[in-house]
Amino acid sequence: MNSDLGVRALEILRENDRGGYTIPTKGLYPFQWNWDSAFVALGFATFDEDRAWREIESLLEGQWENGFLPHIVFRRDDPTYFPGPNEWGTKKHHWIPTSGISQPPVLATIVRELYETGTQSLVRARVKPLFSKMLAWHRWFHLNRDPDRTGMIATVHPWETGRDNLPDWDEPLKNVDISDLKAYQRKDVSHVNQDMRPQQFDYDRYVRLVHFGRDCGWDRATMIKDSPFWVADVGLTCILLRADRDLLALAQALGETEGVADLEHWISRGEEGLDRLWNDAVFGYTSLDLRTGKRTNMLNGGTLLPFYAGVAPFSRIDALFGHMDRWWKRCEFGVPSFDPEHKDFDSIRYWRGPIWAVVNWLIARGLEGQGFEDRAARVRENTIQLIENAGFRENFCPATGVGCGGHDFSWTAAIWLNLKNKKAARAAA
Ligand code: DGY
Repeated sequence: MNSDLGVRALEILRENDRGGYTIPTKGLYPFQWNWDSAFVALGFATFDEDRAWREIESLLEGQWENGFLPHIVFRRDDPTYFPGPNEWGTKKHHWIPTSGISQPPVLATIVRELYETGTQSLVRARVKPLFSKMLAWHRWFHLNRDPDRTGMIATVHPWETGRDNLPDWDEPLKNVDISDLKAYQRKDVSHVNQDMRPQQFDYDRYVRLVHFGRDCGWDRATMIKDSPFWVADVGLTCILLRADRDLLALAQALGETEGVADLEHWISRGEEGLDRLWNDAVFGYTSLDLRTGKRTNMLNGGTLLPFYAGVAPFSRIDALFGHMDRWWKRCEFGVPSFDPEHKDFDSIRYWRGPIWAVVNWLIARGLEGQGFEDRAARVRENTIQLIENAGFRENFCPATGVGCGGHDFSWTAAIWLNLKNKKAARAAA
């Protein structure tokens, strides 16, 4: 391991540790975020297994009684972030203030990895109490984000997809009426260069959607029927499908019978759902606006996640690899978060082009799982190289490799530690 970077990665995790939970980065994101914490656990596991489990346990302390696991757990107030706890209005639902939307469920996949690679005398005791909580969260996802049981996982907010300002959401967001939006002050642009953040058009609609949820008390039926944003996302569909598979494997390893039949059912429905998102117009899986019935016709990093979901139909592999190769030809580094040949590509603006270490980790994990080791190795090496050149940035420009967004990011440090550890293990094997 490049020892300076290895030391710095550890320091970042320690500096961002707030006592049992880790913030994504200082300034921009001062609370506990859902998928950030899951990835952070991967990093801690390389040098402090107990702390890795603690990260996951503390995240699950934010879980509501109905199984919902929020995307932010606000353990203390911090005026440097907007929208804070009052904007979400979730007090009556949980003793710790939280947001009212979730985030991509990578948790079960990471818990399975920690379980299978960890110290056996420790892991069983730690994972046992988590199983039913993760199962409850998956159940919540299926009930609340796929009420019609199509297998396509929808969302009520771009933030829930984890890929906030993908151009895919531009059109569906136009249907969010902001005429009664009150004045508010963005805080993100005081921490990070405005050109690397979502635009005002997006933010106004993000805030309006938060208020929509708050005003209806995050009521399930109202959210499903009336949320102005209701879009089936390829990313969420793939990530939940993979997580259901990993939770089923955990159930088998732990001898759990609860939920097994449901998990099997969700998996086959998820496969059908993903198939519904196949789009011949662009030869890829694309998202679908469930309010208007329009497909987005856009390709993004999620395009390559079907491998991760365990779905790689023979007849579609060439098309998916065609996109991947085309993107690599255009960009020195992969994998861009959005199609670099599309007019809406923007190499530095958050999820409209930049590369994210965590998504590369998911893509590489999917490719290696399906036997495409050469491609997986290239994605892993690109990720390592980007971090070596630019440091532990929030994301990276695919054309130049320059670091973008926030600095000293916990999940970038965690992915670095995981990739370097695995690389060393592979070399030693
Ligand atoms: C933000 O505030 O930018 C986040 O992405 C919301 O989760």
